[in-house]
Amino acid sequence: MPDHPAIDIESVLKEDRKFPPAAEFSRRALIKSMAELEALSRRAAEDPEGFWKECAGELFWFKPFTKVLDWNFPWVKWFVGGELNASYNCIDRHLAGPRRNKAALIWEGEPGDSRILTYQMLASEVARCANGLRSLGVKAGDLVAIYMPMVPEAVIAMLACARIGATHSVVFGGFSADALRDRINDAEAKVCITADGGWRRGQIVELKRNVDEALKEAPSVHKCVVLKRCGNHVEMRAGRDVWWDELMDAQKAVCEPVSVDSEHPLYTLYTSGTTGKPKGVVHSTAGYLLHVLMTMKWVFDIKDEDIFWCTADIGWVTGHSYTVYGPLAAGATVVMYEGAPNAPANDRFWQIIEKYRVNIFYTAPTAIRTFIKWGDEWVHKHDLSSLRLLGTVGEPINPEAWMWYHKVIGREKCPIVDTWWQTETGAILISPVPGATPTKPGSATRPLPGIAADVVTREGTSVGPNQGGFLVIKRPWPGMLRTIFHDPDRYKKQYFEQIPGVYTTGDGARCDEDGYFWIMGRVDDVINVSGHRLGTMEVESALVSHPAVAEAAAVGRPDDLKGQALVCFVTLEGRRKGDDRLREELRNHVGKEIGAFARPDTIRFTDALPKTRSGKIMRRLLRQIAAGDQALGDTTTLEDLSVLARLREDEE
Ligand code: PRX
Repeated sequence: MPDHPAIDIESVLKEDRKFPPAAEFSRRALIKSMAELEALSRRAAEDPEGFWKECAGELFWFKPFTKVLDWNFPWVKWFVGGELNASYNCIDRHLAGPRRNKAALIWEGEPGDSRILTYQMLASEVARCANGLRSLGVKAGDLVAIYMPMVPEAVIAMLACARIGATHSVVFGGFSADALRDRINDAEAKVCITADGGWRRGQIVELKRNVDEALKEAPSVHKCVVLKRCGNHVEMRAGRDVWWDELMDAQKAVCEPVSVDSEHPLYTLYTSGTTGKPKGVVHSTAGYLLHVLMTMKWVFDIKDEDIFWCTADIGWVTGHSYTVYGPLAAGATVVMYEGAPNAPANDRFWQIIEKYRVNIFYTAPTAIRTFIKWGDEWVHKHDLSSLRLLGTVGEPINPEAWMWYHKVIGREKCPIVDTWWQTETGAILISPVPGATPTKPGSATRPLPGIAADVVTREGTSVGPNQGGFLVIKRPWPGMLRTIFHDPDRYKKQYFEQIPGVYTTGDGARCDEDGYFWIMGRVDDVINVSGHRLGTMEVESALVSHPAVAEAAAVGRPDDLKGQALVCFVTLEGRRKGDDRLREELRNHVGKEIGAFARPDTIRFTDALPKTRSGKIMRRLLRQIAAGDQALGDTTTLEDLSVLARLREDEE
């Protein structure tokens, strides 16, 4: 593993506050007490397969499974022999009762337009889209790329793929044309679904233009479906591009769901790893769907009358699991918002909560820190009394931000669920259960029932209470990734060979005397900027692809707002000297290669990077220099000590 210090970190966080759930909340909750939760966890630990088998009764099966688990380390199959359809589970089975007329999606556009789709309306739209995709030649097993703004059609497109057994690959609308092209090519997508544009802070994000650029070098795509959202001018390539409306209007509003195997890949989603190439995480149908559904119940305590809002974009796993598959499988009502939290003003989120009387609100710590900065007056303009439960995800939440969320948004009444999980885990693994678990600000608390999490040494031995170590999962769980698309070797190496016999998460953690987990951040070369995972290698490859750059190293620096800021050390070709113009050019270059969210915060030019005698860049030193640390610890392996002195002199 890389030379990251996380394992040596002395946790300085001393947090003794404890918040038991309010009696009123517990009384009405699905899981009402610690005793109830512990009984469930015990049952799951004693007989994991029996436990998950019982849970699986919550899904609608076309054909029952014959075996719960087939674990051939590290390859897993859940619910062997079973058949089902994800869109049927998310839609059709709610049509038989009163949920048929219930709002499935409450959508708010950034300009203030809104739409509500009941489960029946969603059923018709999904069927039309599924038939439309079929008419373009999409079959079960094909891959469809979705590059959309946050509009209902993004959800419709995902469910339509699921309906006909196609595997979707959603690419976040903030990714650049180049990043989109790489993802389409890796997936060998046949069809791409996009929009003319999407609204973001009053501006049009020109998605179709990026698609045109990407498709110049993406030969697998033979059809592109374009939704008219913003009305901006787009080029339509004859024979390849079709308008969403024209395609769907011609279709029937019914479409038989395809019965797929439990293990059929529902989707792939690209995420950053330690090497330059993003990896396509593959998720199954049955295990994934069951896991997201169970966590809607355990963690979000979802009730039929709830209005649930997860603010994540559909392009990230949180949007997949907790805007689409989890809530819809649970028959819930979800809010979906197209734009920025400060459009037109800093109170847009609070205005939406008030407008729709949202009950459960799920967002990221980086957003919470931004709200704190904007000031409480924006919150106080609105009536947030409908809220009953709050959640966070994506990075550790600092206790100050937790307390603000608790006091200002939750009015000291709402439990906070700090949910730990990853793109690879599919759904939440470690989290409070709100009617049962007393919370401690900054801790994701305990693993959910059926999840065997532990903190271990590099050799795999459990460490004692309050000792730092590697966070691992010791038994398979239904929502786990099944492989890396086209790269099973990487799946094996990255997750199952670093520490013997277990799934390695890449996070450092410690477990306190109550068995509560405190996540200490990544132990690999992945940094977390505003809750977005970025492989430092990806940023480095982007920088090195610029003709002026000889070598680059990207590291994270602690940042009050974003969690981590991206700092890049760059050496230039020849005798070229760096200046502000080049700095800006390099920032833009990374923006073009990956997307604006990956633009480095700081670029530091240097004539050499600190390396070990074997030639490895010493990232630990760079991280410390970036953070402004004076004591750099052990530098005995450094090849040329003068590099360090020069780097320090260069400090901005
Ligand atoms: O480092 C952990 C952090 O986010 C990583 C996963 O990122 P990604 O796959 O993009 O998924 C984000 C949304 C699930 C983890 O390895 N992380 C996520 N949730 C938490 C967290 N760190 C601390 N506390 C959390 N609640």
